[in-house]
Amino acid sequence: MRIASSVEKLTPYTPGEQPQDVDVIKLNTNENPYPPSPKIKEVLSSFDIDKLRRYPDPVFNAVRKRIAEIHGCEIDNIFIGNGSDEVLSVAAKAFVQNDEAIGSFDPSYSLYKTLAAIRDVKFVSSFLNADYSWTDPVISKDGIDVALFLLTNPNAPTSLSFPKEKIKAFASSYKGVVIIDEAYADFADENMMDLAIAPGNENTIVMRTLSKSYSLAGLRLGYCVGPKELIEAMYKVKDSYNIDMIAQVVALAALEDVEWMKANAERVRATRRRLTDELRSRGWDVPESQSNFIFAKPAKRPAQEIFNKLRENHIFVRYFPGEATGERLRISIGTEEETNRLLDCLLKLDK
Ligand SMILES: Cc1ncc(COP(=O)(O)O)c(C=O)c1O
Repeated sequence: MRIASSVEKLTPYTPGEQPQDVDVIKLNTNENPYPPSPKIKEVLSSFDIDKLRRYPDPVFNAVRKRIAEIHGCEIDNIFIGNGSDEVLSVAAKAFVQNDEAIGSFDPSYSLYKTLAAIRDVKFVSSFLNADYSWTDPVISKDGIDVALFLLTNPNAPTSLSFPKEKIKAFASSYKGVVIIDEAYADFADENMMDLAIAPGNENTIVMRTLSKSYSLAGLRLGYCVGPKELIEAMYKVKDSYNIDMIAQVVALAALEDVEWMKANAERVRATRRRLTDELRSRGWDVPESQSNFIFAKPAKRPAQEIFNKLRENHIFVRYFPGEATGERLRISIGTEEETNRLLDCLLKLDK
């Protein structure tokens, strides 16, 4: 048996736990607490099963057409992946050569580092300031150029957005490809989609997912919008049929009901406000989140202790050890009822 040495030494990405116990209040993977559009039920119940004999549309034209309408671009500007995680891995194949690097901020979405290890290229971190504010990205290190910079905005797990002028100035001066990962943009006050469709843009891609705001993490569908040349390169290296037929049908139904998604995002934002204000009034440090989660520092007890105690009480949140993140908990925004139970439990634990 022979395993590639890059894989042998690889530390795999650790996704948040998916407990089978239905009694758990699950605030650990930034899923949406509200159901997806009822239009999905309609299309699934009328879906002609016989169609499954055939392969799906390899370039998902119907879904791309709808995404193009939503963002005011052409279908040639759009690539779709089996979750935005797949969009990222396709980008790592398309835009990075063996002697180049992938870069991102730190802390940020931890999958990026794993992606570089899978691709067997160097990873370059750009460490954020202590308050998680913007720092100029490192674009070259030890003579190796960062060919692909993955910029999460709003950032995870910090929950904060970076100033648009900073992102814009960086993207326009950068020689590599920048992917602005907007997994959480529907919960934010502003987004960067206009940078992806701006005339003359040659290197900026904006990525979205249906996993969060559209309540479809189980579907696995993410997409990105960018310059035609870059998008074309992504099609060259993707799997032949990366989006199955049912996912295409469901995604289309969801994308035809943007209003449903927006209403849910609004409910999440309202609960985020309430949770933030309540925890602040108890002395917690809660930065002003632009996402469907908060990244909060408990008032009295260490974050890890609270994490463990919450778990014992069947409330799952996320804890990331380490200097830059270890004092905080990432807590996804749940329903009003879940938030009440979380707040009640925290009242007892953080004394
Ligand atoms: C910043 C960021 N990007 C991408 C993803 C992955 O999304 P998807 O479910 O579309 O693969 C996540 C998931 O948590 C995320 O936090």
